[in-house]
Amino acid sequence: MQKASAITLLFVFCGLFENAETSFQSCIPRKTVAFQNGINRVFAEPGIFNYSVLLINEETDSLFVGARGAIFALELNDISKAVSYTYWSSPESAQLHCARRGKDKSDCQNYIRVFHKINSTTYYVCGTNAFQPACDYMVIVDGQIQLLGRREEGKGKCPYDPAERYASVMAGGELYSATSFDFQGSEPVVLRSLGNGLRTEYTASWLNEPTFVHADIIEERENSLGGDDQIYVFFSEKAVEFDFYDKLIVPRIARVCKGDRGGMRTLQKKWTSFLKARLSCLEPSLNLEFNVVQDIFLLKTTDWRERIFYGIFTFQWETLDTSAVCAFNLSHVEDVFSSGSFKAPVTLEQSLLVKWVIYTGDVPFPRPGACIGNKEKEHGYTTSLDLPDKTLQMVKDHPLIDSAVKAIDNLPKLLKRGSKYTRIAVDRVVALDHRLHDVMFLGTDDGYIHKAVNYQGEMFIIQEVQLFMSPQRVESLQLSSLKGYLYVGSASQVVQVPVSDCGRYRNCLDCVLARDPYCIWARIQQECVNVSEGTADPQKYLQSIPDGDASECPTDENGNTESYIIIPGNTIQLKCTPLSNLANTKWLFNGSLLHLIDSKHLLYDNGILIFNFAVQDTGYYDCYSVERVNGKEFQSVLVSYVLYPQQSEVTKHLDTTPFQIVLTETNKDELTTAFHPTAVPMSPNIDVLNPEEASVCPPQTQTNPKIEVTLIILVAAFAALLASILLWNLYKRHLPCGCRSKINDLGHFQEMRQNTRTLHQDNHTMISNTVVPETLSRSSSNSNRNIDFQENGNIETSLTLLDLKFIDDDEYDA
Ligand SMILES: *[C@@H]1O[C@H](CO)[C@@H](O)[C@H](O)[C@H]1NC(C)=O
Ligand SMILES: *[C@@H]1O[C@H](CO)[C@@H](O)[C@H](O)[C@H]1NC(C)=O
Ligand SMILES: *[C@@H]1O[C@H](CO)[C@@H](O)[C@H](O)[C@H]1NC(C)=O
Ligand SMILES: *[C@@H]1O[C@H](CO)[C@@H](O)[C@H](O)[C@H]1NC(C)=O
Repeated sequence: MQKASAITLLFVFCGLFENAETSFQSCIPRKTVAFQNGINRVFAEPGIFNYSVLLINEETDSLFVGARGAIFALELNDISKAVSYTYWSSPESAQLHCARRGKDKSDCQNYIRVFHKINSTTYYVCGTNAFQPACDYMVIVDGQIQLLGRREEGKGKCPYDPAERYASVMAGGELYSATSFDFQGSEPVVLRSLGNGLRTEYTASWLNEPTFVHADIIEERENSLGGDDQIYVFFSEKAVEFDFYDKLIVPRIARVCKGDRGGMRTLQKKWTSFLKARLSCLEPSLNLEFNVVQDIFLLKTTDWRERIFYGIFTFQWETLDTSAVCAFNLSHVEDVFSSGSFKAPVTLEQSLLVKWVIYTGDVPFPRPGACIGNKEKEHGYTTSLDLPDKTLQMVKDHPLIDSAVKAIDNLPKLLKRGSKYTRIAVDRVVALDHRLHDVMFLGTDDGYIHKAVNYQGEMFIIQEVQLFMSPQRVESLQLSSLKGYLYVGSASQVVQVPVSDCGRYRNCLDCVLARDPYCIWARIQQECVNVSEGTADPQKYLQSIPDGDASECPTDENGNTESYIIIPGNTIQLKCTPLSNLANTKWLFNGSLLHLIDSKHLLYDNGILIFNFAVQDTGYYDCYSVERVNGKEFQSVLVSYVLYPQQSEVTKHLDTTPFQIVLTETNKDELTTAFHPTAVPMSPNIDVLNPEEASVCPPQTQTNPKIEVTLIILVAAFAALLASILLWNLYKRHLPCGCRSKINDLGHFQEMRQNTRTLHQDNHTMISNTVVPETLSRSSSNSNRNIDFQENGNIETSLTLLDLKFIDDDEYDA
């Protein structure tokens, strides 16, 4: 078993590694903006932490912030100073009581969690209040925020535990919340309060250890069948329908209707409209569905058919460190809820196991879980109180829809290895050509914001911005498209980040290759500006989205020219940083390509070194940034150096002091201006090093040798392990003969992997020691789904990677 799980990890690792070249390579952020003090506006109040809840009000230009024990109102345009604030901490007695019940002292405080607007003057606020959730009304009087001190019950509205994820949304003066209903956090609930109170049934088929992440409302619209608003709740929960593995988590979307009044006898004071379905976001190279949803953003558009839910997805297994963004079309969501088949539990005869299969019985009218619309009203059902018992009983027993809601194109919008995304916001931007582009902003668990787009299937991260000096999780992310800012909450502060900073792009090539929908190159002013200023006149402005074709950029873009006099015998450093993380540098010496493979030159990340400078090394050095986009190569000169030899008397002098530093900071400028009066170096881009110093510089290699060596070792180990397993299998006659010739030659890694794949595909039910992520292998054998009847009558249980993709039970039974 040990061996099997080692193979698993290797398989998974290699599988992803192999793909690194194709699908993930483009997902290196093109630019990295490192943390810099003072670059972004920041709000932090000394002694206050956990700025977890942000609420934007664009009408009053306010940003409300809920922190631990405090609420702040900030100015939306500049958050650095609080306009108004109020404190709300838990009473001493509550804190003591909480600690006595065994909770950590730091958790026994009032973490503000729920923050919603009721109307233009009143807000509703809830806090964990030392594990006794409480709510209050907040009003704004003369620009100052005030709590009314009503201290309403917060149970079911706000979590007890500050570390628990939850979701809530305010609609029509009623609060819809999804959280746990008890101190232990074991009773989940989707609750409506502040009006017609309704809640979910407390049963595993409705909610099975869920982690709620988001709730949103889809408002009434014309054309809909009766026009009832709908509330969507997103969460991950333990799957009931996949019986092969009892700890499998699945991402869900659930829906209730705003007009729901509960049932008359069945489902009294409970939702009669609660339905849920699986969200399907597929990792294409593993053919495995992501099974944890981390956050959801609803992209609101004027036409409801165009509304899209964007979600962040991950795996529950640590070994699979890929984050994905998938998008879901609201129309498809509605289709699944309004016409999908139901799932039904059946108890297997021999065991007490419950298996979920497609419900094949009659579906009563009105359709269980449907909102009351025109059709229902025509038949005399005006509210959910009129619904027949048959419909209600069906909702109660069958809240799960069989079909999953599939992501648009059945493919992720973004796949990123090695980053853990925590929060998402999406902005729809009109580019220069009037086309719309959805720009995804993703907060990471180590304090970065990734700005990403998907251009006709091509995943592209425009840039990453580091927000904090030390890594911190992005706890909340709010976007104001109107203001052009993102607001990011973390444990220690709130940061205001502009959605774009076009001025950061260094020249035409940089501006166009950025493929940033917000930015265009102004041909006359020769600068990168934001598109809102653009007149959409392609004569004056340049942008190439989605292609990234910069061939219209002037080819003679001039970089700086810097001139120096060099004493032969020294080591010279010429600095030059490529335009982006996806670009390389190229050097021309007196107009021809400098081949940097000799012992004389060394290319590294920030320039080149020239060892033992000689008279024949004098001349022109031009540094180009070279970047490939969609098969086309673009280059622009970044800096040109003109190096002159020192005259004879100094050369003589050289014999005695070979490693002398020739140019000091003071005489450098003099000499430069003397030789090249127009070119004054803007920055000290040139250094003269002695040979010992030079050897400290990082060597430049195209690929990291460490990774290569690691890969070779892993491949070798994988091959050895696989070989031993195969031998064992052959010995045990578990493999059919046909496979033997295929896997005889284990020499080549690629081929072997392909064979392994084929093997799994063709015979996945035949292999007994196969790939299971480590955590999976602990599942008890009676819950495994594949049961192979071997010749000798033994029953072998097995579970392959392929099985992990969600094969529907019915499909499997067929
Ligand atoms: C706002 O809502 C509060 C609480 O429901 C109510 O007391 C108040 O009258 C409302 N104000 C306005 C202007 O509607
Ligand atoms: C609150 O902030 C503190 C201090 O930064 C941090 O250690 C803690 O994890 C945060 N708690 C929550 C629930 O976010
Ligand atoms: C969503 O689906 C509807 C109906 O199939 C379609 O008209 C619409 O274009 C889709 N929207 C997107 C963004 O895919
Ligand atoms: C566009 O540029 C102007 C001035 O350069 C700036 O004030 C504005 O905030 C920018 N807009 C966005 C959306 O970045």
